[in-house]
Amino acid sequence: MINVHVLNGPNLNLLGRREPDVYGRMTLADVERLVREKAGSLGVGITFRQSNHEGHLVDWIQEAGAQGAGVVINAGAYTHTSIALRDAIAGSAAPTVEIHLSNVHARESFRHHSLIAPVSVGVICGFGPMSYLLGLEAIHRVMVERAQEAKPSTH
Ligand code: DQA
Repeated sequence: MINVHVLNGPNLNLLGRREPDVYGRMTLADVERLVREKAGSLGVGITFRQSNHEGHLVDWIQEAGAQGAGVVINAGAYTHTSIALRDAIAGSAAPTVEIHLSNVHARESFRHHSLIAPVSVGVICGFGPMSYLLGLEAIHRVMVERAQEAKPSTH
């Protein structure tokens, strides 16, 4: 079974109350419900977590890598600052999709640069909670393809 760890960084626990004009009215629990629904239809196992602490996110990325799971990460502001998260993604070899609720490229210039994008398979941003579902679908496809490539040929 394909397993995906959906990791959420700082301030995402405030979702629904935090700058609703930017991030909408859905809470993180609402987003988790949507993710679990989608995962059920894909047949994917989900671990869903949030922390305001960089080291927790590092531990969880390492854990996903050690378990052969994929990662969908909304690293919040750590996206733009954290070499530790970048190194965790690169070092754990967990296939990772970076996601954001908002279109970070349409916002302040400090949000235009991601330290984790270069070590991620790809980036999805700007679709609100749908970014999570698109991220899950993307990592699922990547992991299915990689598993097929890894299978020995029958010819
Ligand atoms: C965010 C965008 C980041 O720039 C910001 O720091 C966040 C949320 C998003 O989901 O749009 O905390 O990751």
